[in-house]
Amino acid sequence: MSSLESKLATKLTDLGVSRAEDVSALFAEVHARFESEASAARDEASWKLFRDAWLGRKSGVLTLVTDNWLKPATPEYKRVVGAELNKLRGHVEAQIEARRVEIEGGADEAALARERVDLSLPGVTRAVGSHHLIRQVFQQIEDIFVSIGFSVVEGPEIETPYFNFEALNIPEFHPVRDDMDTFYLQLPKGAPTPLLLRTHTSPMQIRTMEKRQPPVRVIVPGKVYRRDNPDATHSFAFHQVEGLAVDSDITFCDFTGTIEYFVKQFFGPGVKTRFRPSYFPFTEPSVEFDVTCVFCGGSGVSAGGGTCSKCKGAGWIELFGAGMVDPAVYGFVGYDPKKVSGFAFGIGIDRLAMLKYGIDDIQVFFQSDVRFLRQFP
Ligand code: FA5
Repeated sequence: MSSLESKLATKLTDLGVSRAEDVSALFAEVHARFESEASAARDEASWKLFRDAWLGRKSGVLTLVTDNWLKPATPEYKRVVGAELNKLRGHVEAQIEARRVEIEGGADEAALARERVDLSLPGVTRAVGSHHLIRQVFQQIEDIFVSIGFSVVEGPEIETPYFNFEALNIPEFHPVRDDMDTFYLQLPKGAPTPLLLRTHTSPMQIRTMEKRQPPVRVIVPGKVYRRDNPDATHSFAFHQVEGLAVDSDITFCDFTGTIEYFVKQFFGPGVKTRFRPSYFPFTEPSVEFDVTCVFCGGSGVSAGGGTCSKCKGAGWIELFGAGMVDPAVYGFVGYDPKKVSGFAFGIGIDRLAMLKYGIDDIQVFFQSDVRFLRQFP
């Protein structure tokens, strides 16, 4: 026990106090102890211990002084001890409170320093993804057709045979169905109609004409499915954009003009176009549409002098099928074939993108390889 602690437990008379100066000396000792302990209270925990040591009701220093020095003091010293004790109490209480404010402020400052945000630092750049090249090509095509009065519609990827085939003039026995090896859905017995993954976007011709009266000018971007074996130009899931324009006086010239406008906007003014006769059950006449090879400029000769590998020396590349809407199709949607005419086309988007961007394998579109994706930000 330190001498001060033993003094605090002892009455003044037993300490041999015989003069007022002795009282002041004792209180000076207490003050000195207080100052040294106050500077040691640096955080909240040590401040609490410090406070209890001095103001604690049972055995705090002020209680000991009151109980052991003031209360048993003889009348001649009581006044001077009372005055010293009041002075001490005022000082102790004020200092303990001041210390609390300091410690709390310090804690706030430390927290502020810890959490400080330096606004002058460059921000954290988060990697933002980009649209897939197929999505970008869809957008380019949509922009071109919207600029000449077409609107964009979308339709279901799961179709009925009626919309995918029959209403497009492809009855069940028609051999063209064999070209579209088809994914049918497994349905519970008694399902009202078979369902399949659409093999082309053409069913949206029917769905659109069922809903709208002429004039109709729409394009339909979307995903389609065929049971084709994957290779460099085939995938079992790929993308098409269907186009349909029907009005009272649409001619083959409107059709070729529209297509040529689109192709020149998409590939640039340098490309030449041509039509070749073809066959689709839902267009009559039907055509295949070719452009001059964008790799060899239509010469059929590659930059190295050999045969162009992309067009195999032909100078032309097949782009898509199209034609004037077959009058039989109007019968399925309640249009009068004597009053309306129109054209339709179906563009394979993956192959179109391959041509425009010089990609030689369709599979890269589906592999999500960032080394490929980053080339088309
Ligand atoms: C059709 O799908 C017709 N519906 C197009 C059409 C619409 C004709 C309107 C007339 C009027 P085709 O089967 O040729 O046609 O397919 C169109 C395009 O899809 C092809 O030119 C080709 O670019 C693309 N394509 C076809 N099969 C695949 C495949 N397995 N993988 C990737 N692209 C394909």
